[in-house]
Amino acid sequence: MIFEQIRSGACLSYVIGCEDTRAALVVDPEINQLDRYHALAARDGLRIRYVLDTHTHADHFSASRELARQTGAAIIMHRLSSAPYVDIRVDDGESLIVGKLRVGVLYTPGHTDDAMCLVLADRLLTGDTLLIGGTGRTDLPSGDPEKLYDSLFNKLLHLDPALLVYPAHDYKDRDHSTLGEEIAHNLRLQKTRREEFVAQMRALDLAMPTHLTEALRTNRSGGKTVSQLIAEAASKVSFMSMSEVRQRIERTPPELALLDVRERDAYLAGHIPGALHIPRGQLELRVNEMLPDPTQRIVLYCEYGKISTLAAATLHDLGYGRAVALDGGYQAWREAAYPIEPG
Ligand SMILES: [Fe+2]
Repeated sequence: MIFEQIRSGACLSYVIGCEDTRAALVVDPEINQLDRYHALAARDGLRIRYVLDTHTHADHFSASRELARQTGAAIIMHRLSSAPYVDIRVDDGESLIVGKLRVGVLYTPGHTDDAMCLVLADRLLTGDTLLIGGTGRTDLPSGDPEKLYDSLFNKLLHLDPALLVYPAHDYKDRDHSTLGEEIAHNLRLQKTRREEFVAQMRALDLAMPTHLTEALRTNRSGGKTVSQLIAEAASKVSFMSMSEVRQRIERTPPELALLDVRERDAYLAGHIPGALHIPRGQLELRVNEMLPDPTQRIVLYCEYGKISTLAAATLHDLGYGRAVALDGGYQAWREAAYPIEPG
């Protein structure tokens, strides 16, 4: 078996490949690691056939849909997952066949109602059901401490204690443990009576994950994150540095058109000298009258450099092949004490 653990902050994902057939399964892929999954698969001569989320993640962005789109892999989740894009909905007691590997599905609700663990010959992928020295929390949407108790004490912890434990999260740079070590030392698992365990879970006063709403929105719908939208736009356009822009607008005649895409009030309070103004929200409707020459070199800017990236990509789509975005935003321009023009 080819087995690779990929860490992205506290998130752990896995590439599991069959040495004989070179088929691979990616578990809990994270959006910032997309290129790495391709690179690992290429390095080991693997073809990604399946991507799987052990549960609906509320704290980070799943790359399952994008990875599946890029590779043609099938997306696997538990049958109770609300994500509409899942190809194979699995349930307790079923197995996935990855080349010559058998990957068993153990339904373990509690952290979420669609949570499962994966059982391989010598190891477990425990998702957020069992962590090293902890368990998944049960206070996020569809979490239930009673169900987590059953999943652990009446199911997972009955498996062979020699099995290696590979969780979906770890906050202390540990990569794995064993089921036996967790049973012996995991503090949460020392509360073996149902009432004590449930009370302990209910008493945890944890902060909500930073991107909870956006993570649930994108992971449940398969939609894109805001940073994905900006990254996709950034991959379509090029950028020009502030000093380069400054030199070029100070020449006569200026070598390029500047376009401020902030709101009107911000533009009137001050802008880069000579800049035209179309708020981002009106860009498509007003661009024909304001910029009649699609071959013109245009530098777009906004306050922080994100909206202008989206706007520059939109101009590209409209045929303005020389639209570029300012590398930085008006805020950085102002802080650099570069010339500005009021009104
Ligand atoms: Fe989770």
